[in-house]
Amino acid sequence: MTPYLLVSRSAEYESRLRGLLGERLRVIPGEFVRLGPESVVDRAGEPRIVLLGPILNYEETRGLVNELTDRHPNLGVVVVREQRSDLEDWVDELAMHAVLSPNANDEATLELIDRLSEWLVAHGRAAMDDFDAPPELEIDDLSFASLETFAEPELDDVPAGIEDPPADVPAESASDELAQAPVQQAWDFPPLASGTPSEAIAVVAPKGGQGKTTLSINLATGLAEIAPNSVVLVDADLQFGDITAALALVPEGTIVDAVAAADDELVLKTTLTHHDDGFFVVASAPSPELADHVPAAALGALIERLRRLFRYVIVDTTPGLGEHSLIALEHVTDAVFVMNMGVPSLRAVRTEFELLNAIGLMPVNRHVVLNMSDRLSGLTARDVEHIIGAPVDVEVPRSSAVLLASNRGVPLIHDDVRDPAAKAIRSLVQRIAPDAFPKRSIIHRKRRSNEPE
Ligand SMILES: Nc1ncnc2c1ncn2[C@@H]1O[C@H](COP(=O)(O)OP(=O)(O)OP(=O)(O)O)[C@@H](O)[C@H]1O
Ligand SMILES: [Mg+2]
Repeated sequence: MTPYLLVSRSAEYESRLRGLLGERLRVIPGEFVRLGPESVVDRAGEPRIVLLGPILNYEETRGLVNELTDRHPNLGVVVVREQRSDLEDWVDELAMHAVLSPNANDEATLELIDRLSEWLVAHGRAAMDDFDAPPELEIDDLSFASLETFAEPELDDVPAGIEDPPADVPAESASDELAQAPVQQAWDFPPLASGTPSEAIAVVAPKGGQGKTTLSINLATGLAEIAPNSVVLVDADLQFGDITAALALVPEGTIVDAVAAADDELVLKTTLTHHDDGFFVVASAPSPELADHVPAAALGALIERLRRLFRYVIVDTTPGLGEHSLIALEHVTDAVFVMNMGVPSLRAVRTEFELLNAIGLMPVNRHVVLNMSDRLSGLTARDVEHIIGAPVDVEVPRSSAVLLASNRGVPLIHDDVRDPAAKAIRSLVQRIAPDAFPKRSIIHRKRRSNEPE
């Protein structure tokens, strides 16, 4: 009997919850969500409580809640999601029992799960022995600050102690003492365990306007699903960087402040700007002339310092192989080479490869991305490979959704999950972090009724 079920796209959250619930937890990776809610429910067993998230969008969560509660009407439903402006809509519209921050500490997470388990037992929705003995808790030390809110489920009543929270007061504040607990910021930096391999990825192109910034932003978004709040995106397009504009962010500081603070971790953190999708941004210089305050060596030192704090460091660069881009390439593990289907751009990529190989600056992992691919260009992917002298790893089609997302200030892969360009960029995320995704071979597709055995 596995009473708890987690459906999530975050490998890190999954391993954390496994650590807390052990054998009592069944996990269905987000990969299955794309196959439809039935595919998830078919694998769900007989759960008593399901945790949905982090990194499931509204439609996915709604589909799962409906399908799961249809099949298991007594199920307790917890949505794992950060405090965002649209959270209230989720609470209003989904038949869930509670919302849990993915950043809630272990004690608070277990406390919430235990309270919901007890409530299900008390209301005849589960038997006591459905849940093994709860793990030991240091109740005195509980921090409830990250338990965002309990939603009134569409049920006849709710667990003792969490019912009828006043509209603007989270239910857990029922205890005055606990309500005094310091509020933990939803985006606290998770500590990077020593020995955690950090990866740094430079996004480069010999020519301008190829899609470096678009890819950088969406890579950060995709990697933040794997490692929430352990991803930083550095806008090293020093003079004309536009990442904060493309994400509708107001910068807390800029790269000029960040390089000046690179020796002091605490100050450095204050120069970063947080994005709600779970990553941080080092904004570009506030005006072109201030870019001179960032010598190339200082950029290298900044990348190294960030690699000690974050699991993934992504560096968006200026077009061409200027001093800063070369230094960035020297300090990264991966390079994403971006090109369009224009012959001059492709020839320039070939020259860039030759040069980097000649000077020994080709990073260990190379990812060749053909962006804005278009059947009307007169070239095929094979022609492209012939010109650049290397295989294309990911082909991102031209899509109007890219500009639309940028104008809305939202990363494409969250703005339009079905868009072909978004899907292609997801496959780049998968290439860069293959271990975070289940292997294809373990997905057993359900045989269709009209398919021969
Ligand atoms: N796959 C795509 N389909 C359609 N438009 C795209 C695609 N990728 C990028 N674009 C658009 O192309 C333009 C240039 O993209 P982007 O700013 O990401 O390129 P860049 O390489 O960072 O440019 P720069 O060299 O100026 O920094 C933007 O308007 C962006 O919306
Ligand atoms: Mg750019």
